[in-house]
Amino acid sequence: MTRRSVIVGTGSALPANRVTNAQLAERVDTSDEWIVERTGIRTRHIAGDGETTATLATEAARKALAAAGISPEQIGLIVLATATPDQTFPASATRVQTALGINDCIAFDVAAVCTGFLYALSVADNMVKGGMADYALVIGSETFSRILDWEDRATCVLFGDGAGALVLQAQDTEDRGILASRLHADGRHNDLLYVDGGVSTTGTVGKLRMKGKEVFRHAVVNLADVLNEVLGVAGHSADEVDWVVPHQANKRILDATAKKLGLPPERVIVTVDQHANTSAASVPLALDTAVRDGRIKQGDLIVLEAMGGGFTWGAAVARF
Ligand code: UT7
Repeated sequence: MTRRSVIVGTGSALPANRVTNAQLAERVDTSDEWIVERTGIRTRHIAGDGETTATLATEAARKALAAAGISPEQIGLIVLATATPDQTFPASATRVQTALGINDCIAFDVAAVCTGFLYALSVADNMVKGGMADYALVIGSETFSRILDWEDRATCVLFGDGAGALVLQAQDTEDRGILASRLHADGRHNDLLYVDGGVSTTGTVGKLRMKGKEVFRHAVVNLADVLNEVLGVAGHSADEVDWVVPHQANKRILDATAKKLGLPPERVIVTVDQHANTSAASVPLALDTAVRDGRIKQGDLIVLEAMGGGFTWGAAVARF
């Protein structure tokens, strides 16, 4: 038997305000037709007053804890992936910790933008396996609406806000839990997807900038590579995978990646139409959606993957 991190509960949270493409077209020079055809996005949720990365993360965490039947005091570790924290410091994870009523546990944020949840999951998995905690909360939460340039139609239509969370439990098991994960970064591509401000440079928060076409090209290649790599490490082939839970940036990226791997589209969880790109929140939001609607069941072999600013990219294989 091996000590592994088993996913025992998932949860998610979305801001109350749901915005359709048609509503966006009232304030930006775009159309429902263009957005659907190029991205597959139909709606996104936008945070309102009082809704922040930490409040959304807390709601998602509460639901994941309830699904797992775990009380907050049992949590020994919180890893929160975000590029849009409530404050520059302290970590938003500590706000979630306090909101959950936990007085002492390990809590920190991880910044790897859209790949943030894969980085957070891998860090938490290794800490759980190493004995630092028996129960961990892994959260992806973002309020990208607050770093969008609402004058730039090429980016502002693509993103949304939200949060997703899961609870990991240390278990002695042969084949359940996180079986393998692989992470990558290549900082040479900083200028293709970045925020044009920062604490130590401009002293401002800045706005998101992206050369979409080039990001798209790299995304399909990097994601197919890392999926093949992580499946190889886990000792599984693509045809054994029950569900792929990808980062939700663009329906065309999901289709192209699945095709490259020879995976039927029916085995890919798609939520980009409903949530748009929620950066680090998109993978756990998609996971929770498919767990709650009954598609992902205990015993299923699932693969999570993401790619984003940095560039960063990564994937994980788990037996649910
Ligand atoms: O999460 C991190 C990873 N991010 C991604 O993976 C994003 C990857 N990139 C993409 O998803 C796609 O490249 C986009 C959706 C961003 C863009 O799609 P595209 O097919 O690459 O379009 P494009 O940027 O080449 O733009 C095509 C045309 C341009 O007009 P011209 O120059 O052909 O006349 C744009 O000005 O579409 C125009 N355009 C728009 N038109 C209506 C750009 N944005 C819009 C818009 N509405 N919102």
